[in-house]
Amino acid sequence: MLASSVIIRVARPQDAEDLALVHEQSWRSTYQGILPHLALERQIAARSTQWWKRVLTKSRDILILKIEGEPAGYCSAGRSTLGSHPNAMSARKGAAFKGEIFELYLKPEYQGLGFGSRFFDAARETLISRGIAPGLVVWSLSDNEQACAFYRAKGGRDLGQVKDCFGGVSVMKSGFGWS
Ligand SMILES: CC(C)(COP(=O)(O)OP(=O)(O)OC[C@H]1O[C@@H](n2cnc3c(N)ncnc32)[C@H](O)[C@@H]1OP(=O)(O)O)[C@@H](O)C(=O)NCCC(=O)NCCS
Repeated sequence: MLASSVIIRVARPQDAEDLALVHEQSWRSTYQGILPHLALERQIAARSTQWWKRVLTKSRDILILKIEGEPAGYCSAGRSTLGSHPNAMSARKGAAFKGEIFELYLKPEYQGLGFGSRFFDAARETLISRGIAPGLVVWSLSDNEQACAFYRAKGGRDLGQVKDCFGGVSVMKSGFGWS
């Protein structure tokens, strides 16, 4: 594939409809069977086009991946905050990491082709160029084996597991860190 047909840039309010669709397709295929049906559908409904428009108007922390002009994925990354960590113990561990990838999602048809790896590297470079360094942390549902394998393959150091809550259900999260 031509390098020019893969574009990673800051998402704009005009991308809201595309990101709502990417979110819906990626979350449904990733979390069916991992998260309870109702909690997952509520999350998808909450991330409407209007929601994305509001967020993209205020934030420059969301990147969009476009392949041959088609929206293929999004990544939100920024300064790691205490609140994004599931509990106080992990917050202490996470304190060593200035940056955090909060979400990294590709549409199912673009997964497993190396695009996630390129997107991850671009997000990391963006954080560094904004002075959000050193260190990067990511939290993934422990049951999301694909994501955990991906972060390990990207060289993430295992930070252990913590308990968290999603849509009223208890879940385990695994942390990965890069120095
Ligand atoms: C996780 C995700 C971003 C990874 O992107 P991707 O494009 O599928 O992954 P890549 O093709 O770039 O793979 C990079 C490396 O990760 C590893 N990897 C990726 N998927 C894997 C899987 N299912 N099992 C084992 N290893 C895997 C591979 O070792 C690969 O290295 P390789 O080049 O030696 O094969 C993507 O699959 C995705 O969007 N998944 C659904 C959403 C999700 O789970 N997001 C993370 C939430 S925290």
